Amino acid sequence: TWTIGNIAEEQIERIREQIGEDGRAICGLSGGVDSAVAAAIVQKAIGDRLTCVYVDHGLMRKNETEQIERDFVAATGTNLVVVDAEKQFLDALAGVTDPEEKRKIIGREFIRTFEAAEADIIKSAPEGTKVAFLVQGTLYPDVVESGGGAGTSNIKSHHNVGGLPEDLEFELVEPLRTLFKDEVRLVGEQLGLPDEIVWRHPFPGPGLGIRIIGEVTRERLDLLREADAIAREELTNAGLDRDIWQFPVVLLADVRSVGVQGDGRTYGHPVVLRPVTSEDAMTADWARLPYDLLERISTRITNEVRDINRVTVDITSKPPGTIEWE
Ligand code: XMP
Repeated sequence: TWTIGNIAEEQIERIREQIGEDGRAICGLSGGVDSAVAAAIVQKAIGDRLTCVYVDHGLMRKNETEQIERDFVAATGTNLVVVDAEKQFLDALAGVTDPEEKRKIIGREFIRTFEAAEADIIKSAPEGTKVAFLVQGTLYPDVVESGGGAGTSNIKSHHNVGGLPEDLEFELVEPLRTLFKDEVRLVGEQLGLPDEIVWRHPFPGPGLGIRIIGEVTRERLDLLREADAIAREELTNAGLDRDIWQFPVVLLADVRSVGVQGDGRTYGHPVVLRPVTSEDAMTADWARLPYDLLERISTRITNEVRDINRVTVDITSKPPGTIEWE
C-alpha cells in the first residue's frame, strides 16, 4: 500500500543506488523545505558522504540560520559547512537601492561563495574519492515544466567550480523529482525535521535584501528582523500559518513618518504588512487577517521595535501588485 513511509524509503533506496558505494555528494541548504528534505533523504542514503553547505548571507530572518545550524543538524546528523558571508554581502550591497541590481549582486555573491565552499570540500575529500554528486530539491512540477519527464536521471550539470578543472561535472541527485510540495512536507515531518522548516512559507533567495526599500544595512536588517519576527509569531499564535501563502514585512527605510510616543514626537520608519493568499504565487489576493490580530501586531511592533512608529497593511492583489515590494 501507498504510504509516505514508502515514498521516503523508495527515494532513499534509489539515491543509494545512484551514488553507489563510495560516491560523495554536496547539497546547498537555503533554509527552505525543499533543500532540507532533499538533504535529509540523501543523508539517510549515504550518511557522512554527504556534506551540506549553508551560505549565511546575513539577509535571513530572525532564527532561520539557527534553525539550520542547530535544529536541522540535530534532526539529521548531517555534516554541515556554514559560510559566514554577511560582511561580504553587505559590502557588495552598500549604496545599492535598485531592486534588480540588488538581486544581481546577491545572486553573484551567492554563486561565488557556494563554489568556493564546494572547491574546499572537494579538495579536502579523502584521497581517491570522487565528489561527483550535487543534490537539488527539484520537485515534480519543475520537472514537468522543464520538459524533463519524471524518472529521467543522470542529467549532467555543467556546473563549473572555481579553481577546479573546467571539465569537472556534477551529476544531479534529485530526491524530490517525483513529489509534489505537500508530499515533500509529509516526508519532512516523517524524517523528523523541525516544523519551522517543514511548514516554512516561501521565502525569496535574496531574502530581506528585497524587503528593505532603500539601501540594505545591518542596522536596517536588524530592525526588519525584529518587526518580521513579531508578525510571524502572532500569525502562528493565531493558528493561521497554513491559511496564508506568505507574509512579507517590508521596511520603508527611505521613508520617515512623524509619530508621538509618551511625551515626545518621534520621526521613525513605517513598515508594511503584506499577508497574501495564493495557490502558486502567479496570482495572489491580500489576506483578510482578523482585525484583532492586526492590532496585536501593530501594537507590539511599535512598542518593541525602536525607530518603527507606523504599521500599514498592503491591500493590493496580484496583479497589479507583486507579492514582494521589490
Ligand atoms: P512576486 O513578488 O513576483 O513573487 O509576486 C512571486 C514569488 O517569488 C518569490 N520571489 C523570489 N524568489 N528570488 C527568489 O528565489 C527572487 O529574486 C524572488 N523574487 C520574488 C516571492 O517571494 C513570491 O513567492
